[in-house]
Amino acid sequence: MCGIVGYIGNQNAVPILVDGLKKLEYRGYDSAGVAVCGGGAIDIRKYKGRLSVLEQRLNEAPLSGTLGIGHTRWATHGEPSDQNAHPHAGGTGDIAVVHNGIIENYQQIKNELTALGYEFRSETDTEVLAHYIDHFYEGDLAEAVRKVLGKIRGSYAFAVVSGKEPDKIVCVRKENPLIVGVGQGENFAASDIPAILEHTRDIYLLDENELAVIRKDSVRFYDLAGNALEKKLLKVDWDAAAAEKGNYAHFMLKEIHEQPGAVRNTMTGRVSEEAAGVTLDRISLTREDLARIGRICIVACGTAYHAGLVGQYVIENLAGLPVDVKVASEFRYNCPLVDDRTLLLVVCQSGETLDTLMSLKEARKKGARILSIVNVIGSSVARESHDVLYTRAGPEIAVASTKAYTAQLIALYEVALQLAALRETMSMPEIEEFKQQMLGLPARIEEALKLSEPLRLFAGEHAQVRDLFFLGRGLDYAVALEGSLKLKELSYIHSEAYPAGELKHGPIALIEKGTVVLALLTQETLYEKMVSNIREVKARGAYVLAIAAEGAPAVDTAADATLRLPAVPALLAPVVAAVPLQLLAYHIAVARGNDVDKPRNLAKSVTVE
Ligand code: F6R
Repeated sequence: MCGIVGYIGNQNAVPILVDGLKKLEYRGYDSAGVAVCGGGAIDIRKYKGRLSVLEQRLNEAPLSGTLGIGHTRWATHGEPSDQNAHPHAGGTGDIAVVHNGIIENYQQIKNELTALGYEFRSETDTEVLAHYIDHFYEGDLAEAVRKVLGKIRGSYAFAVVSGKEPDKIVCVRKENPLIVGVGQGENFAASDIPAILEHTRDIYLLDENELAVIRKDSVRFYDLAGNALEKKLLKVDWDAAAAEKGNYAHFMLKEIHEQPGAVRNTMTGRVSEEAAGVTLDRISLTREDLARIGRICIVACGTAYHAGLVGQYVIENLAGLPVDVKVASEFRYNCPLVDDRTLLLVVCQSGETLDTLMSLKEARKKGARILSIVNVIGSSVARESHDVLYTRAGPEIAVASTKAYTAQLIALYEVALQLAALRETMSMPEIEEFKQQMLGLPARIEEALKLSEPLRLFAGEHAQVRDLFFLGRGLDYAVALEGSLKLKELSYIHSEAYPAGELKHGPIALIEKGTVVLALLTQETLYEKMVSNIREVKARGAYVLAIAAEGAPAVDTAADATLRLPAVPALLAPVVAAVPLQLLAYHIAVARGNDVDKPRNLAKSVTVE
């Protein structure tokens, strides 16, 4: 959620840290700071506000040094302020720490350190780390960090520098991401790959409870007991431009338009005309495993949860297995029916969402088999799972998830087909027919993207509405939930999604003259019922925009306006129907002057409870 960058080498660390933080600003953005070591003393600059505030202050009073750490913050303990911004200094100021995560027992440690005479300048849990490292310091920074790790509880990734040992950065991770980048005579640390991609493609992924000591010419890894570890260097093959905005006004718009590619990539080598069935190399589930499994449980948060709702419908339909879908923050404290006959399907873009990760660990403890659908390679969720099916959406920078969602849907179809093949609930010709339809999806998404302009005009007219309701039936209801979430988070307009048949049981009381309703009609067997529901809300004065598949009859006369989507089979329709809803939320947010890529109060990767 917060962003961390570290640099050690021969160049001035400051511009490298600031550029790296720019690439991470999406992870958190209420304050930013750097600590730089030039000739022994550590100089810290940190300010409340966006990164641009820090940048401006650094321009006014430049800093330099060849060792440094930087941070963008999304507040958890203590309001956004200069004092609470990172880095935090420890002891007499010769230790600086940047941290992502939460130290759960910080209050107890703070009391202990206060009694020893340490003075706290912030309300953060992080400052405890800085003083605690100073307290244990006896001439070896890595050793002091190791001692602290034995005392703290929580989830964290942090980087530390000391003016007494200006030749190294010490980094640690537990349940929060941290990577190490390797250059020529210079090395890097970061909470995410885009931060250092400009400088190197050679990276190490730090594992749980591992410590890295980064010098300009070497990187060493240790476990908590201080034993040296051998790690494999990975080559990142992402296109640097993929992490940039390109020609689009916002990352979100770019990512919406990248969906044909994300969907295609997620099928590459798995769903093809050349090979029969689906080829999911990384999933080792056998027919025998499946015979033991009585139940599938999908666990996820937010948009990924909405993808899970589609997955439930598709798996039950194609593979005939009962599926429950749970919000991870609820599941985590209430998963009594999970055992070794449960297949836990985890859906997570970042692979770092704490509630999702903890649900996974809880279910694993109870014996569940874990299959995860993850976008970020080597992330915590991926590493904790028995099987991983990566979505190949590429880095998603905008806080609101778009291309990761459609890629998750594709991965869920792939899992459903695999399960159907193993359970023989679909014949081979049926599977091949379904695959053919899936292979046509990128082209259908391209067509759906053409609705951007009419949706922009609609957004211009309706951007100031107080409420906006989304209605759908069956899979259209699952997509309506996602459309409503997208609208809420980006436009700050109150919005609800209802299964259209449920209206008469209460929600219709909210409909009055001028209420804007968006009705989805992509499920052929439900067209007529949806048209009746449109007429019901129209009769109470609603203004209805219908988004309907080509061929859905009688919609034009029932709704005030209709936009047509290319027709695809009912089970695949969510992939296409999501696109206009994303565009609608985007254009309304732009029309209202909101910060589209960084909506208020939100962070890209939610690594706190
Ligand atoms: C909404 C959004 C969030 C995420 C949720 C889970 O646009 O992006 O609702 O979907 O925080 O994130 P991951 O998939 O990383 O677990």
